[in-house]
Amino acid sequence: MKILLFGKGGQVGWELQRSLAPLGDLVALDFDSTEMHADFSQPEALADTVLQVRPNVIVNAAAHTAVDKAESEPDLARKLNATSPGVVAKAAQQIGALMVHYSTDYVFDGSGTKPWKEDDATGPLSVYGSTKLEGEELVAQHCARHLIFRTSWVYAARGGNFAKTMLRLAKERERLTVIDDQFGAPTGAELLADVTSIAIRASLLDPAKVGLYHLVAGGETTWHGYARFVLEQAQAAGVELKASPAAVDPVPTSAFPTPAKRPHNSRLNTDKVQSTFGIKLPEWQRGVARMLAETL
Ligand SMILES: NC(=O)c1ccc[n+]([C@@H]2O[C@H](COP(=O)([O-])OP(=O)(O)OC[C@H]3O[C@@H](n4cnc5c(N)ncnc54)[C@H](OP(=O)(O)O)[C@@H]3O)[C@@H](O)[C@H]2O)c1
Repeated sequence: MKILLFGKGGQVGWELQRSLAPLGDLVALDFDSTEMHADFSQPEALADTVLQVRPNVIVNAAAHTAVDKAESEPDLARKLNATSPGVVAKAAQQIGALMVHYSTDYVFDGSGTKPWKEDDATGPLSVYGSTKLEGEELVAQHCARHLIFRTSWVYAARGGNFAKTMLRLAKERERLTVIDDQFGAPTGAELLADVTSIAIRASLLDPAKVGLYHLVAGGETTWHGYARFVLEQAQAAGVELKASPAAVDPVPTSAFPTPAKRPHNSRLNTDKVQSTFGIKLPEWQRGVARMLAETL
């Protein structure tokens, strides 16, 4: 089996390089790859890459993920998040490949308190959210054999992340203020990559399993709860902090105005992915504690 991965250097792409490797021959590309065109800011040429590799499975982890920046560069965000995935999906359909794509909780307007289900009405609040929604629609429209995973609050051990920022700030300052009115689940890139591999295997064996899924870690928290958990873990590991977990003050989203509006309710209902693929999604604390154990 041949697998083509776009966006190999991102948080999820990096972990996919590990989790996809045992499935078959992996061709992994990034936007600056010299061997083949994989720059999503130039959508037209992506079809040639797909037709040249002729993979059985295409996994797209490339995206414009800078949520605030997207507000001032909507054309680029649209190319990366919508037009290019659409071009890849058309080429995937042409060669009969299964296409895997990732989307976001930001396709919802964040109203209410109930975890969103796959068929709930969407209502993006930002350029990032609306371009990601257009991307998932194009992928579903152009490639019949698709797996689309909407996820949220992604972190990885590699590179920067929210937890590392909180740790740095807690070493520098006596008190921190963190938003406590956005609810969601921090989700590890490792978990996304592992479930992607499981879902690919299952969908190749049973084509009825293709479709749209919500995929996040178990449980829920706020950014405030997340920050406190990170500092508790650091303290328990003997890291010296100026700000203790109790010195993290909750504030509303309005305390930190940003160019892009973010949903208050980012909870995603994961019943469908768990029952279809026979998996159990671990509580978010487990993955965050593991990431911290690797990085502290
Ligand atoms: N991060 C989150 O919190 C989050 C939440 C919900 C959903 N998601 C979705 O999950 C997926 C993976 O996200 P992630 O967290 O792994 O994001 P990421 O770390 O920002 O990775 C995105 C990848 O896209 C690449 N890229 C940037 N510009 C490109 C271009 N012109 N052509 C091709 N590739 C380009 C990036 O390369 P460089 O690193 O070199 O720029 C990077 O490898 C995305 O679909 C994202 O929308 C993410």
